[in-house]
Amino acid sequence: MSFPNDRPRRLRASPPLRRLVAQTRLAAADLVLPVFVKAGLTEPVAVPSMPGVQQHSLESLRKAALEAVSVGVGGLMVFGIPAQKDATGSGADAEDGIVQQALRVLDAEVGSELVLMADLCLCEYTDHGHCGPLGGEGATATVDNDATLVRYAQVAVAQVAAGAAVIAPSGMMDGQVGAIRAALDAAGFADRAILAYSAKYASAFYGPFRDAAESAPAFGDRRTYQMDPANSDEALREVRADLEQGADLVMVKPAGPYLDIVRRVADAVDVPVAAYQVSGEMAMIEAAAATGGIDRDRAIEESLVAIRRAGADIVVTYWATEVADRLTLGTSAPASG
Ligand code: PBG
Repeated sequence: MSFPNDRPRRLRASPPLRRLVAQTRLAAADLVLPVFVKAGLTEPVAVPSMPGVQQHSLESLRKAALEAVSVGVGGLMVFGIPAQKDATGSGADAEDGIVQQALRVLDAEVGSELVLMADLCLCEYTDHGHCGPLGGEGATATVDNDATLVRYAQVAVAQVAAGAAVIAPSGMMDGQVGAIRAALDAAGFADRAILAYSAKYASAFYGPFRDAAESAPAFGDRRTYQMDPANSDEALREVRADLEQGADLVMVKPAGPYLDIVRRVADAVDVPVAAYQVSGEMAMIEAAAATGGIDRDRAIEESLVAIRRAGADIVVTYWATEVADRLTLGTSAPASG
């Protein structure tokens, strides 16, 4: 009988040992909370497909932001749902548009304590639900790339003027980062950063979000602009293009099913890398936990640790406040489990 010399189990023997040697840690400051604010609401409205997520009124948004600050969440990503939608998404950059109103409230309330980010896309604002104005007719209608760039530039300026510190373009139009950078610089906002959704895939995992943001496309899908899940090299090409155009941070989305992409991007760049744990990822864990199959809190933390371990510096997650709260209290699942 021969006994092993190499005993990795020694370092797993107790919670303090495991904590000491853990290579990946979650910190509240690395988490970004996505929030939805809807025009005309006086009370928040629950989103059925996303447990715990609400469409906020301005007032409930303010409270959610204060709660996030109180547990040290790193940032907020703001999405708006306008009162009216039209062909060009004019609600996105209206002076009194819902996102502009929300950003002003949030900037005054929490702007010095966390990073205020604005998702920049038109799908919540267009009556057809696509991410920019359309060109072509009927079956050939598709998003007009360059007309969309003109709109994105206008929206970016409106969002920073209302208080956004970081603009996060998520429409996957060619040249969007460059168009936004030029517009921000020309408007005197050279100090505001761009978090590029560089590698954003055409994913079924966005389903619940489209309920929350009321942004499902009225026809077709987003495959002519978002990336094909089959592709990996293309993610690096998109990231490189965004960095050349002036992106300050880059993002991979979704996160969990795309950890290989997160790792490739993290290895390739020297800017901070974010990953977006999207609505479908959270809905799956919530659904499995609701039927009793998995330990919800541990599954949430494991999913976040995995995204960080793959190379993400920043994680956008609907559980940001909840997880930050547990981290602050020192009761996070991996440390105690
Ligand atoms: C806007 C946008 C989407 C998400 C973030 N920004 C939806 C989409 O592209 O259809 C999805 C986020 C999520 O699923 O949580 N374009």
